[in-house]
Amino acid sequence: MHPRERFMAALRGDAVDRPPVWLMRQAGRYLPGYRQLRAEHSFWDVCQNAELSTRAALEPLDKFKLDAAIVFSDILVVPLALGLGVSFGPGEGPRIAKPLRTGADLDAWNVDGAVSRIDYLPRAISHLKLTLKERYGILGFAGAPFTLFAYCVEGGGSDDFREARTLMHRDPALARRALNTIADVVADLLLAEIQAGADAVQLFDSWGGLLAPDEYRDFALPALQRITAKIGKQVPTLLFVRGGHHLMPLLGESGVTGFSLDWRTEWEVARKMYPDHLLQGNVDPILLLGNAESVRKRTRELLETMKRTSEGRHCILNLGHGILPGTPPENVAALCDTAAEFS
Ligand code: CP3
Repeated sequence: MHPRERFMAALRGDAVDRPPVWLMRQAGRYLPGYRQLRAEHSFWDVCQNAELSTRAALEPLDKFKLDAAIVFSDILVVPLALGLGVSFGPGEGPRIAKPLRTGADLDAWNVDGAVSRIDYLPRAISHLKLTLKERYGILGFAGAPFTLFAYCVEGGGSDDFREARTLMHRDPALARRALNTIADVVADLLLAEIQAGADAVQLFDSWGGLLAPDEYRDFALPALQRITAKIGKQVPTLLFVRGGHHLMPLLGESGVTGFSLDWRTEWEVARKMYPDHLLQGNVDPILLLGNAESVRKRTRELLETMKRTSEGRHCILNLGHGILPGTPPENVAALCDTAAEFS
């Protein structure tokens, strides 16, 4: 099968020769071409210029046996378009200049036309599609509402996002209003990405796992449902909740087509819970910092599990979180080659 054919068959749940593979954060600082690109252009310039974004997205496809490309962009394009001021300091996480703490802060968000100020993202997808033609699958993405809310309130990265979680309980009405506002922008953004040619879209809830099940149900889930209701069945929707094992029984209510599992979730457990959903994952990205032999072994085991539990259907091989900077590219090749040789 050709890469795109394999990827599309997996999305539909049709028979495949073997599960397709793409990797979260497959473009990025572990690749020399990306580091070179970033030596010449700022991060936002790469995201906002379709030609540069495509160059970043293509590098992993040229180097590894992957089945799909993910548009090169970032989840923080949404707070950027809402006027919160998002920057990346050298060697640190994101910084948000105007964090959300009060109702007046939310009222100041520049909601009107927000999606049109992110038009560079769908344009990057169109350009990527024009370059790739029908050779590879194309993924669009956005941040899940809770994770975007967490960055907006906290003002940057954090281990526990205590400002964001405190606000949820101190002023639940404000938190819900913010989550709904974010969800509506995200839904319209994803619709524009689909219009531009995305074959599937992934929602990154990188911090959703911080929440207890009742908090996730009260705050995060309704915002996700707002998005899936708008998108409907136009393309498959994937949800990644890092550290979300304890939330798995709830996540079916989000209305997504499939789940991207982190490395702590057992594949069989998720498959038993969701026999007909698309499942994606879940090699530990830390393994890729080690040696190629352990990557090959883990990849083979996982592919065997996929074969045993669902004949490899409804399965996409991926990592349990994004590739880490400093990952040796030969370990990424070991994973992709192992998948390519599997039957
Ligand atoms: O091929 C790809 O997957 C790249 C596209 C992509 C990026 N960010 C590029 C990026 C994707 C899918 C993301 C998603 C993203 N961004 C998430 C969800 C996935 C996850 O890792 O949990 C999150 C939480 C962010 C927010 C973000 N963006 C952070 C925390 C940072 C700084 C720390 C870091 O990981 O680099 C960014 C910047 C960013 N986004 C970089 C890249 C390649 C590094 C920027 C640089 O210095 O060049």
